[in-house]
Amino acid sequence: MIAGGAEAIIELREGKIIKKRVQKRYRLAEIDERLRAERTRAEARLTSEARRLGVPTPIIYDVGEHEIIMQHIEGLQLKNVLTPALSERAGELVGRLHSGGMVHGDLTTSNFILSGDKLYMIDFGLAYFDSSVEAQGVDVHVLFQTYESTHEGFEELIRRFSAGYRRRFKNAGAVLQRVKEIEARGRYA
Ligand SMILES: Nc1ncnc2c1ncn2[C@@H]1O[C@H](COP(=O)(O)OP(=O)(O)O)[C@@H](O)[C@H]1O
Ligand SMILES: [Mg+2]
Repeated sequence: MIAGGAEAIIELREGKIIKKRVQKRYRLAEIDERLRAERTRAEARLTSEARRLGVPTPIIYDVGEHEIIMQHIEGLQLKNVLTPALSERAGELVGRLHSGGMVHGDLTTSNFILSGDKLYMIDFGLAYFDSSVEAQGVDVHVLFQTYESTHEGFEELIRRFSAGYRRRFKNAGAVLQRVKEIEARGRYA
């Protein structure tokens, strides 16, 4: 096992990643079964759809009832290697995703992997299709929060992310404006 979060465990078996959604005992059994099966199918589909939008993601090899078998992206989590140049590339990937109408739902620097010189986006377990400025703004806001809480020089990282994001997404200006408003809401709430 290489990772175990609240929802899923990640295993590396025969060179492939297996992401298995675990049982939630506080949920009624039938509901839990159905939710895990639905989220598993949705995650597999959205991972592949994101790649079609030009965002590097793991290739999906197989989808079971509660598990996805996918390509192992060998590399380092972005949180351990983040630089302004890589932040700009992350901005380009998020711009491509948002241009295609998809929001990731959990944009953190743990959900990007740098493999060689290629940056991948992973973990589409909370992704969905939504082209609203609010959904896109929240997506970017969550990433900026991880920048602010865990990364030095976050202002430069945010500037470079925004440059990459604008390059790939024509409505980027409106979304970045909304991010500022979301931050203000947080401060005065
Ligand atoms: N396809 C993959 N290739 C390499 N590492 C992966 C892959 N999928 C997941 N991981 C590793 O496992 C961690 C957790 O997986 P993730 O899909 O993000 O699940 P969670 O929903 O629990 O965050 C990731 O941060 C990454 O380090
Ligand atoms: Mg994750």
